[in-house]
Amino acid sequence: MRKEGPVAKLFGSCLERKPLVLTLLALTFVMLIWNLPPYYQSLLSTTTRSSSSSTALTANASLRAVSSSSINPAVTEQKLSTPKPNDPNKRVFQSYGNAAALFVQMGAYRGGPTTFAVVGLASKPIHVYRRPWFKCEWISSNGSSTRALAYKMLPDWGYGRVYTVVVVNCTFPVNPNHDNSGGKLSINAYYGENPRKMEKFTALEEVPGAYNESKYRPPYQYEYLYCGSSLYGDLSAARLREWMAYHAWFFGENSHFVFHDAGGVSEEARAVLDPWVRAGRVTMQDIRAQAEFDGYYYNQFLVVNDCLHRYRYAANWTFYFDVDEYIYLPHGNSLESVLSDFSDYTQFTIEQNPMSSALCLNDPTQDYSRQWGFEKLLFRDSRTGLRRDRKYAIQAKNAFSTGVHMSENVTGKTLHDTETKIRYYHYHNSITVQGEVCRELVPMSAKKNVTWFNKLPYVYDDNMKKLASTIKQFELKTIGNVQEQQLPQPQPQPAHMNNINTPRTTHT
Ligand SMILES: *[C@@H]1O[C@H](CO)[C@@H](O)[C@H](O)[C@H]1NC(C)=O
Ligand SMILES: *[C@@H]1O[C@H](CO)[C@@H](O)[C@H](O)[C@H]1NC(C)=O
Ligand SMILES: *[C@@H]1O[C@H](CO)[C@@H](O)[C@H](O)[C@H]1NC(C)=O
Ligand SMILES: *[C@@H]1O[C@H](CO)[C@@H](O)[C@H](O)[C@H]1NC(C)=O
Ligand SMILES: *[C@@H]1O[C@H](CO)[C@@H](O)[C@H](O)[C@H]1NC(C)=O
Ligand SMILES: *[C@@H]1O[C@H](CO)[C@@H](O)[C@H](O)[C@H]1NC(C)=O
Ligand SMILES: *[C@@H]1O[C@H](CO)[C@@H](O)[C@H](O)[C@H]1NC(C)=O
Repeated sequence: MRKEGPVAKLFGSCLERKPLVLTLLALTFVMLIWNLPPYYQSLLSTTTRSSSSSTALTANASLRAVSSSSINPAVTEQKLSTPKPNDPNKRVFQSYGNAAALFVQMGAYRGGPTTFAVVGLASKPIHVYRRPWFKCEWISSNGSSTRALAYKMLPDWGYGRVYTVVVVNCTFPVNPNHDNSGGKLSINAYYGENPRKMEKFTALEEVPGAYNESKYRPPYQYEYLYCGSSLYGDLSAARLREWMAYHAWFFGENSHFVFHDAGGVSEEARAVLDPWVRAGRVTMQDIRAQAEFDGYYYNQFLVVNDCLHRYRYAANWTFYFDVDEYIYLPHGNSLESVLSDFSDYTQFTIEQNPMSSALCLNDPTQDYSRQWGFEKLLFRDSRTGLRRDRKYAIQAKNAFSTGVHMSENVTGKTLHDTETKIRYYHYHNSITVQGEVCRELVPMSAKKNVTWFNKLPYVYDDNMKKLASTIKQFELKTIGNVQEQQLPQPQPQPAHMNNINTPRTTHT
């Protein structure tokens, strides 16, 4: 545990000149003010005075520990080892290694003239068994400081593992950098109610002249932003290429895509996205270092919150969905008209059309090895009335933290009744299939009838297929001819494929 900052420094400089008693008295005052966040006034009882002076002692000790450890780590080790007590019945608890950190910062962003968000991970047990809290302070380049209210959100509560996601919101009464002279956002993170046990760090720095108020007002840079969650596993480069071409077309020129590579973007996958990166349509973030921190599914909740705040004022609407999902507008709706209908809402959720990632029509006229995934996967699970996962879009400036299926911390209304206006086709797991996805062929009669496969009913749905040639032309026009050698060559069809001429029935 490290304690640095004003308290320790002040003590250090006073020490040489003033008697100890005076110094402690001065410190009591500093601590009194420092420990009085509006939220925690109640914590400060009559014990403040005595506890403050013991803080001073701790600070002095820590200061020495920090400076000596930077010279010789062995000194710290020696210092930490507990001396053997004389009483044989007094037991010693010797710890080795370290557990989860109090806070792991991924990003810190200004979220408007007076507000900031710090996005990170924190040890889950600390949040389960204690009540960690935060304090924010702006330190101007001239040294003056301002405090802010801080509150925390735990957007993946119930999902976290060793680590859980924490979004700290710091909101000042006025812009702390109103004169644009620059400064730093400093965070105090507390382990529990005891205000003496804390860590202090600089979360963000604004260099002189960097603040630009017009960034936080419309018009925003993009109309639509895509925030992808963690990409992991062995993603099919062919499917990724198709997804990218489709959505670059769907969202139009004034959109941008942010991907997060948690190890899932192979060389081939990178090669299909690179032309879009060069065209300024895609940003690829390398988040492979997240593997050090055991959170929920490659820290996807962390990633979506980082993206929310990083791009809070970058677009009118921010979309959250996966790379095996394709947004679709039924009945010839236009995206612009649908979203203008939704403009009174902060967010809306989107219902899925669950698609088979294996069934294809046994149609001798089609050469599936040359077709795109959404051109040949045409069987939709026809069960209705089930509760299925949804995806969503949000006006990010009105959101404070977010999740994978929707945000629960927003200002403004949420709309769920959107099925007739916007949907998404979900080709579950098709993105991880290497080679041919058509792994089960069904007879041509399945086009007009319900097909049962693995006890589930499927119906033919070629809405996406109808768009395929438009998308291919768009891709060619936008990034040129995609080199065939970039893509994995289609693999020989599995032997059983040609033998399956009848739909699987319930007994399988
Ligand atoms: C603070 O540390 C100095 C040496 O680093 C020591 O001489 C002094 O006694 C300490 N003060 C207190 C109050 O522990
Ligand atoms: C220091 O800077 C802040 C803003 O950055 C300003 O409000 C304050 O007046 C300045 N203080 C002094 C003493 O110059
Ligand atoms: C502030 O940002 C806007 C666009 O967001 C830009 O046009 C303007 O030049 C910027 N101003 C400064 C002083 O950088
Ligand atoms: C985006 O927001 C701007 C300003 O609020 C508005 O003029 C524009 O029509 C919006 N565009 C879309 C596609 O919603
Ligand atoms: C922080 O919370 C305040 C009050 O709820 C909100 O107005 C502000 O937009 C939030 N800031 C960020 C960066 O989320
Ligand atoms: C965020 O949303 C959760 C769930 O609705 C709620 O319990 C929590 O109080 C909210 N926090 C803030 C700061 O809005
Ligand atoms: C549709 O399926 C039903 C039952 O599975 C079957 O009786 C019927 O003959 C099928 N119709 C066609 C056109 O294949």
